[in-house]
Amino acid sequence: MENRCVFCLWILLLISVVVIEVQGGDGSVGCDEEERRALLRLRDAFNGTTALSSWGDGKETDCCMWERVKCDLSNHHVTQLSLADIRLNTDNPIFLNTSLLFLPFRELQNLSLGSNNIRGFHEVLNLSKLQVLDLSFNLYDEIPSLGLLRSLSILNMEGNSINTWSHFEELTTLKHLELLNFAYNDLSGKIPQSLGSLTSLKFLSFMSNWQISGSLKDGGLCKLRKLEELDLSKNGFQGEIPSCLGNMTSLRVIILKQNYLTGTLPSAAFSTLTSLTHLSLSLNYFEGSFSFNSFGNNSKLEIFELDNLSSNLTIDTESPHYWMPQPQIKIFRLTNCKLNEPDRNLPSFLLKQSELRVLELRNTGVREIFPTWLLINNSNMEFLSLAGNFLTGHFTYNNHSQSKNEYLILLDVSMNQIQGVLPYSIGVFSPYLVLLNMSMNAIQGGIPPSMGELKQLQLLDLSNNNLSGELPKEFVQGCIFLEFLKLENNNLQGQVLPTNSNLNSLEYLRMENNCFSGELSRGLLNSRWLGLLDLSNNLITGEIPDWIGNLSRLSSIILSNNFLQGPIPMSFCKVKELSFLDLSKNKLTETIPACLDVSSLRYLHLHDNGFTGFLPKILSEASSLVTLDMRDNNLSGTLPTWISSLSNLRFLLLGGNQFQGSIPSQLCDLRNVSMLDLSSNHLSSVLPSCLHKLQFGSKPTFNDMLEPKVYNWNTLWGLRTYLYESQLQINIILELDYGASDEEEEVKFVTKSRSESYKGNILKYMSGMDLSFNNFTGSIPYEIGYLSDIHTLNLSNNHFAGSIPTTFSNLKQVECLDLSHNKLNGQIPQDLIELNFLAIFSVAFNNLSGRIPDKKQFLTFDNSSYEGNPLLCGHLLEKSCSNSSTELSSEPIIQNNDDPFKETFLWSFIASYTIAFIASIVVFLCCTDYSERLLEYVRAKFIVFSF
Ligand SMILES: *[C@@H]1O[C@H](CO)[C@@H](O)[C@H](O)[C@H]1NC(C)=O
Ligand SMILES: *[C@@H]1O[C@H](CO)[C@@H](O)[C@H](O)[C@H]1NC(C)=O
Ligand SMILES: *[C@@H]1O[C@H](CO)[C@@H](O)[C@H](O)[C@H]1NC(C)=O
Ligand SMILES: *[C@@H]1O[C@H](CO)[C@@H](O)[C@H](O)[C@H]1NC(C)=O
Ligand SMILES: *[C@@H]1O[C@H](CO)[C@@H](O)[C@H](O)[C@H]1NC(C)=O
Repeated sequence: MENRCVFCLWILLLISVVVIEVQGGDGSVGCDEEERRALLRLRDAFNGTTALSSWGDGKETDCCMWERVKCDLSNHHVTQLSLADIRLNTDNPIFLNTSLLFLPFRELQNLSLGSNNIRGFHEVLNLSKLQVLDLSFNLYDEIPSLGLLRSLSILNMEGNSINTWSHFEELTTLKHLELLNFAYNDLSGKIPQSLGSLTSLKFLSFMSNWQISGSLKDGGLCKLRKLEELDLSKNGFQGEIPSCLGNMTSLRVIILKQNYLTGTLPSAAFSTLTSLTHLSLSLNYFEGSFSFNSFGNNSKLEIFELDNLSSNLTIDTESPHYWMPQPQIKIFRLTNCKLNEPDRNLPSFLLKQSELRVLELRNTGVREIFPTWLLINNSNMEFLSLAGNFLTGHFTYNNHSQSKNEYLILLDVSMNQIQGVLPYSIGVFSPYLVLLNMSMNAIQGGIPPSMGELKQLQLLDLSNNNLSGELPKEFVQGCIFLEFLKLENNNLQGQVLPTNSNLNSLEYLRMENNCFSGELSRGLLNSRWLGLLDLSNNLITGEIPDWIGNLSRLSSIILSNNFLQGPIPMSFCKVKELSFLDLSKNKLTETIPACLDVSSLRYLHLHDNGFTGFLPKILSEASSLVTLDMRDNNLSGTLPTWISSLSNLRFLLLGGNQFQGSIPSQLCDLRNVSMLDLSSNHLSSVLPSCLHKLQFGSKPTFNDMLEPKVYNWNTLWGLRTYLYESQLQINIILELDYGASDEEEEVKFVTKSRSESYKGNILKYMSGMDLSFNNFTGSIPYEIGYLSDIHTLNLSNNHFAGSIPTTFSNLKQVECLDLSHNKLNGQIPQDLIELNFLAIFSVAFNNLSGRIPDKKQFLTFDNSSYEGNPLLCGHLLEKSCSNSSTELSSEPIIQNNDDPFKETFLWSFIASYTIAFIASIVVFLCCTDYSERLLEYVRAKFIVFSF
């Protein structure tokens, strides 16, 4: 029995060997000769590729056996060519000769040419049996002519550079087309009406062309009754979601995110789409109210995303019945809306879920006790964000429950009203957290040692709470991947980072506004990638240690408002990319080391210290400097003429020192200066008339808009984006199986939305000049009146003589004008009533005479603006002006025809630091009544921190 079997096998083997021999020996049995030659031509067309090197020249080879080739075994014709990604090491684009290369394959059904840098076809592709054509990720800049491919059912053009709709019309003859993918191209304008005739379509994507616009009704979209998956995300579609969508009852997947869609969500349409599993509507501008009841009880929804950009959306999941998705929902994201008014409860369907992987309910107004059960019920949760709600109560893991959240990588419960202490066993229950944000709550107590178990943690934000105690050693030794640590605005104590700490990956450390004390410890040195260090407003004592220079990556050092003393150590010179240095409000002495690398320095805040000597000469090389603030030190000498080399300077603040001599005319070269404070020095002599060349208010350049680089936000965004977007993207792609993730694009968008949100908060750019409390003499140059964009002008407490220049009536933006305590005489120009924004005005203690202006703004000032001028008269002063010689001064206003100063000066700041800084300067400079504008600043600051 056994022997016979072995014999049979032998025979079989023999026969098959003979068959192979015969086939190999005679090509005609193997594959079609014409096709074989065409294949060789194809190999040559992709010349040099190793991927096809096994395709032989010799007659003996059967081309059906070649790699990447499949034949129909019954007739030996080639049916499939898988030629994707075979031009590996060559970039130059090619054109393919269609008739020469493909015409012979009359039975070809499946042709894949993706990722080959193909620029186009010569001639029309004519393969009547072709069903699948994949030209993705090539360099087509127009749609190839495909009208002859009568059997085509799948066309993939994703990732080319197609920028015109020409030849699109031809596709309408393809009655079997089921999948059409134009994702990641450069198409723009409206989708042609002819789309509607592709009535067999099941899958359609125009994702990420960015420029396709018009309404969703265009292109006869609603005629595509068989459509199952539709992705039009990342384009410029406008208008409402049309109700005709409700007729496309096969739809399973609808992705419309990142367009400009508006209006209400069409309840009726969604109620008929009973097959829907994935609905993504994020990053549009929907309004009105929407009830999940429209999805009915038979909803198959597994993914729902609505991260809305308008704030006028009301969502209800509870009435008239509560909504219950039938299978378990996996991804649910809802942000920026009013959820379940007026009770503001969490959606009750959440109680029944156990397979949630992503849950985001951000800025939805939910008012509940912190739902720890969400984490207990859903052990597969990867991403939980409940930020920006009104969650109260404590956040504790249930120590008795067995469940761990092994998959949780992001937990964001920031901006709520959570009380109590941090979950003691957080490191045990969520051991793989990458991002933890619990900022802006009312959390008390210390940081639990188990935090040190979070070995994957990259970003920890516990800022703006009531945390106290010292940083536990388990934490500072355990979290070795921590890159961003934000602990500011708490009551934490002890050493900043104790000597044994080991936060090796730290790049960004913010601990300002705490009670950290003692000298800076060497623990910081283990964080050698540190780029930003903010320890301001603590109780740190001693000298700035010399080793700090070994943290040579530092670009921002902020140590203001501590008790630091002694000189700035020489080792600062080792820091090569210093761009932000704030050591203000300490007790530092001597001066800036002459070897400091100032080439990247943009912001220098050294005010309120004991620095002495001349203005440091090294600063003459700081050509990027925007802010130079050395107010309230003991600097002396004259203002240097090299100051003119600081051509980007915007804030020059040297008030409260011992400078003497005159203002050098070189200072007038600092055209970008908008705040100049030289007050409370010993400066003397006459003012240079060229001061009017300073701009005092102008639009920012684009570079200024990018100021937050200083704070390394970019990296932060990157990380955030990675976690918030691509993580989801990946999940979604799995469900969709076409399309690709695009981290880069997401970054682009996030950046864009950032700048848009700033646009909404345009701040008036403040500008001012304070020369008060010096010994200036002579008359006030009339050219000062040309500073038509200046907001604040303080010349008080000097020895100015002569009259108030009539040109001052050109200071159209001035809000605060202080000329008090001088020796001015003559009359107050009546044209000053044109200064419509004037809020604070003083000419007290001069020798002015005549009638005081008594119209418009001037009606709001009182006696104190004028006291100490016995010769002034007017109703307000209860002194009538009987003498006619006190009438209007007739001195003509000097005309200023090509006025270079009349620029608009509305612009928006991004760096909150700068904003807060300016706000403080404005108050300092002169005026006190800025509450409204300050509020605006604070709001802007808030936005920056909450991005
Ligand atoms: C393509 O090949 C055919 C057949 O060899 C030839 O006649 C034609 O000129 C070629 N076309 C181009 C554009 O090279
Ligand atoms: C849905 O289809 C029906 C029947 O073809 C049609 O009468 C109706 O107008 C369509 N509804 C919408 C909203 O287009
Ligand atoms: C959906 O289910 C809820 C709860 O079971 C029920 O009260 C409601 O009547 C159902 N709604 C519909 C439209 O069937
Ligand atoms: C989820 O937790 C809540 C509260 O503990 C509980 O009532 C509910 O039954 C749980 N649901 C599931 C699906 O486990
Ligand atoms: C943490 O959340 C707050 C408020 O939602 C936000 O402002 C802050 O930027 C977040 N922190 C990080 C590091 O993302």
